[in-house]
Amino acid sequence: MSNRIPLIAGNWKMYKTAAQAADTARQLMESVDLTPEREVMIAPPFTALVSVAAVIQNSPISLGAQNLFWEDEGAFTGEVSPVMLLDAGCRHVIIGHSERRQLFGESDETVNKRIRSALKHGLIPVFCIGETEEQRASDETFSVLDKQVENGLEGLSSNDLEALVLAYEPVWAIGTGKTATSGQAQEVHGCLRAKMADRYGDAFADSIRILYGGSVKPNNAAELMSMPDIDGALVGGASLRAEDFAQIINY
Ligand code: PGA
Repeated sequence: MSNRIPLIAGNWKMYKTAAQAADTARQLMESVDLTPEREVMIAPPFTALVSVAAVIQNSPISLGAQNLFWEDEGAFTGEVSPVMLLDAGCRHVIIGHSERRQLFGESDETVNKRIRSALKHGLIPVFCIGETEEQRASDETFSVLDKQVENGLEGLSSNDLEALVLAYEPVWAIGTGKTATSGQAQEVHGCLRAKMADRYGDAFADSIRILYGGSVKPNNAAELMSMPDIDGALVGGASLRAEDFAQIINY
C-alpha cells in the first residue's frame, strides 16, 4: 500500500486581479481544514503570484504558476522564467495544460523543455496530459496519452523525475461539467501507473502522484478520490470560490 499524500491543486486560469486573488486565498485559509493528510496548491495568474504569496507565506498552501518559459532570462517578450517564478514564491508549475496546447500551440517538444527547465530549477512540474472527445470516441485514448508521456518526459530518468506530478485531464471534461466517471478515470490512472512502472520501475510508479482534472466539484470529489490510483485533483472552475474549493480539499 502506498503512502501518497493527495494533492489538491487549484488552477485559477485567467481569472482574478491581484487583490481578488489575495482575497480568495485569505478566504480559503479561513474555510479550509489544513491537515498533513492533504497537500494544497493554488495557481493564480502571473500578475497575482506576489499578492497571493504574501497571504499564504506561513501556511502549508503552496503557490503554483500556470506555465513557464524554459530560459532563465533573455529577449523573449511576454514570457516568464523559472527564476522569476521562484522569486515570486512558487513551488509548483502547471505544464502542458490542454488550453496551452490547443489555444497557444504548445507541443510535446516545448512541454518537454518546460518540464526540464522546471526540474532544473527545483520547481515541481504538474504535467498535464489528456485526450480529446474525438480521440476517445475513436479508441485512441491510450495511444495519445502514451505519446504525450513519452515525448513530454523524453530524456529524463526516474531520478530527474522524482518531484514530478502527473495530471490526467481528459479535454472533453475540462470546463464542460462532464466529469469522467470514477471508473473511466481509474482505468486511465491505472494504465498510467503501469506505464510509469515499465519506464521507471515499481518504486517510482508507486510514489508518483497522478491527479485527475476535469469538472471536479464538491459533489464528485470524494468518489473520484476514493479510486486507488487517483492521488488528488487539478481543479479549475470550482477552485475559484474558496468555499467550494475548501469542500473539495476536505472531501
Ligand atoms: P475545470 O478545469 O475543473 O474547470 O474543468 C480543470 C483544469 O482545466 O485544470
